[in-house]
Amino acid sequence: MIALTLPTAGRQSEIRIARGLLHSEAAPLVAATVPGRRALIVSDTNVEPIHLAPLASGLQQAGFTTLSLALEPGEQNKTAASLERIYRACHLAGLTRRDTIIALGGGVIGDLAGFAAATWQRGIYLVQVPTTLMAQVDSSVGGKTAIDMPYAKNTVGAFYQPHAILVDPDTLDTLPPARLSDGLAEVVKYAAIRDPGLLDLLEGRSLADLDYATLVERSIRTKADYVLADEFDQGLRMQLNFGHTLGHAIEQLTGYEAYFHGEAVSIGMMLALRLGAILGITPPGLIDRLGSLLTALGLPTTPPPLPAERLLGAVRGDKKLLGDSLNLILIRELGEAIIHPLSLNELAMLYAKLPPTPGAPA
Ligand code: NAD
Ligand code: GLY
Repeated sequence: MIALTLPTAGRQSEIRIARGLLHSEAAPLVAATVPGRRALIVSDTNVEPIHLAPLASGLQQAGFTTLSLALEPGEQNKTAASLERIYRACHLAGLTRRDTIIALGGGVIGDLAGFAAATWQRGIYLVQVPTTLMAQVDSSVGGKTAIDMPYAKNTVGAFYQPHAILVDPDTLDTLPPARLSDGLAEVVKYAAIRDPGLLDLLEGRSLADLDYATLVERSIRTKADYVLADEFDQGLRMQLNFGHTLGHAIEQLTGYEAYFHGEAVSIGMMLALRLGAILGITPPGLIDRLGSLLTALGLPTTPPPLPAERLLGAVRGDKKLLGDSLNLILIRELGEAIIHPLSLNELAMLYAKLPPTPGAPA
């Protein structure tokens, strides 16, 4: 088992990564981490039938009273209405400040259940048990929790570090290949901004050939470094937003239904690379290399046919906007990201220099 500790301002998050963890050490680890013996396990209707039983029975054997809640899956359910369902279940389960919410699922469940844990009785124990590659390599680590609003993604939320993050790469065996691709978008992000050696583990391999346990461990180590350096996203951590500003805008404008998060991030990274090349910052050869890799991993690389002003209008609603300016993350060379401040007007002028996307209105 790989054991890491992430000591942040508010608490120490314990991270454990091991194949088969859900069937063995997960419940004893929860029991050793939290004081109370009541737990609400939040998952979705895809995950619950496959992965709830071993965790719930392990917890019961460890002396817990458990209640489970399976939400409807998907980004379109990362809403205040789902949050309210979690609060109601917290009430039914009688959760006090000594008790625990366990997020069993992908990033949608992790963000929702994490926000519920941050706010129920002003903060209770939180354990993340991520079951998608996206959640294992990224969303379960670092304490960002949120819900979406129709007008902006992740715009209501809190920084709330989990008390434990229990990662079982075997849960990826039940993921559809397209959902593996989503998580790989974030792995390509880590390669682009910080860890170029990750490309050796990705290029020239099929999805079935990848060593997911290694990709997960290496990605978590990279993310943990960023969170340690800048827990509250005031500086260096912004580099993790590479591809996300435009990616989030695409998700929001397409009603959170047309693209999974990783797909939108893939498109957003390609746009940021192309904008970087126009500014003379990103080497054109890197655009070709990362574009070929993302395509080979089954990810989209061109935006949907949205008018530029709508895309930029959605960026205006992004929570990372500071007044009228934003920090665009650009890549100077593979493994080296820079934070490039610019105004919304400058972004609009830069965006207008991109060659048009086929099918996009002028
Ligand atoms: P998701 O949670 O919607 O999961 C994708 C799909 O896989 C869902 O249909 C789900 O039911 C299913 N699923 C989950 N685990 C499964 C398993 N083991 N077997 C079979 N099916 C399974 O999507 P995601 O890509 O995991 O997460 C995306 C979300 O994460 C977005 O809302 C994004 O904003 C958020 N996110 C947050 C952070 C953060 O730092 N908090 C970072 C990255 C992404
Ligand atoms: N996913 C971006 C961050 O955690 O900062």
